[in-house]
Amino acid sequence: MPNRPYIVGNWKMNGVRATLPEARAIDRAAARYPDVSVGIAPPFTLVSSLTDELSHADVGAQDCHAEARGAHTGDIAAAMLADAGADFVIVGHSERRSDHGETDAQVKAKAEAAMAAGLGVIICVGETLEQRDAGQAEAVVSAQVDASLPDAGLAAESAQGRVNVAYEPVWAIGTGRVPSTGDVEAMHAAIRARLVAALGEAGKKVRILYGGSVNAGNAAELLAVPGVGGALVGGASLTAEGFVPIIAAASRNDD
Ligand code: PGA
Repeated sequence: MPNRPYIVGNWKMNGVRATLPEARAIDRAAARYPDVSVGIAPPFTLVSSLTDELSHADVGAQDCHAEARGAHTGDIAAAMLADAGADFVIVGHSERRSDHGETDAQVKAKAEAAMAAGLGVIICVGETLEQRDAGQAEAVVSAQVDASLPDAGLAAESAQGRVNVAYEPVWAIGTGRVPSTGDVEAMHAAIRARLVAALGEAGKKVRILYGGSVNAGNAAELLAVPGVGGALVGGASLTAEGFVPIIAAASRNDD
């Protein structure tokens, strides 16, 4: 069901084995809301444990290398993630782009590697505050989408819910600031236009998630914005208490 909203927790560099009960509680919530797809992207060290423990939520990683194997100390290949049981991988998160200097071309190569390994991908894009203030937000994000997307053939083959784009304004990540719903709608429409230009019909099937300071208090409003197909959640995904209300907000069966 590719049209189900997708609510994904990005645990970033947080989580140890003692955190597993939170993941289990999130998994139980995922079972209660079958009209929502739920994912958790823990650090690499917990991917295997989570795939063993969870039965309803997808498990993903937060990065992969573009090559299948080789002399790349400290890196992890997409096929290794698949072997560990992962369902998806986040690529091009702004913290990867800023901490590790990742370019759009590298993000695209990683997305292609992930898809070749049978994983879903969440490709992250987003403008800085300076770019937004300069009126360049849509141009910057559109260019990122164009240059970070896997090649058309591959994407067209695999767009059945396995390719996702996350719009995450850099200035909204971890800051408690969120764009207006009007700005979110406009950007999601701009991203959709790029996806359709690049991928044709398959571009309509790509879910576009919003990310950046999503929490229990603002999730319902953000998820109701036309064109928002889910959320990529950082800080509020670390506990079931913070994350489950966001899953509930995405459900039509919210109680
Ligand atoms: P945040 O992070 O929810 O803590 O703002 C979102 C993200 O970086 O994916």
